[in-house]
Amino acid sequence: MDAAKTLEISTIVGATAILFYIGFISLPVLYAFQTIPDDPDMVVEVIARQWAWEFRYSDGSVSDRLTVKAGDVVKLELTSEDVIHSFFVKDLFFKVDVIPGKVVEIWMQPDVPGEYWIQCAEFCGKFHGSMRTRLVVEE
Ligand code: CUA
Repeated sequence: MDAAKTLEISTIVGATAILFYIGFISLPVLYAFQTIPDDPDMVVEVIARQWAWEFRYSDGSVSDRLTVKAGDVVKLELTSEDVIHSFFVKDLFFKVDVIPGKVVEIWMQPDVPGEYWIQCAEFCGKFHGSMRTRLVVEE
């Protein structure tokens, strides 16, 4: 085997090993994103439609803004009544697509009290830009 062939093989083996290593060390992060805690403090249904957000709480109340308590684990069940929207809280680096005919479950745990913009981040028609509301994180 000549030197060029040996170099080629060791490059492929090395690159493969690095990719596996990166995949392996990413697993805990991916798992943390995927796993919904068994006992969230709060469950909220999030309904998106052109061009508004609706939040349905487990006590039956409905609001056009999302209000949670700081530190609570909040499970969101997001769906759309028409086209694809995207639930984006820029200040919390939180973004998830909202898809018609499907309920996307995800959780968040905002821990700093305040008000944050929720902005639709998927072009969804004429008033896409004004499809926004507030996330209120209470103390
Ligand atoms: Cu909804 Cu853009």
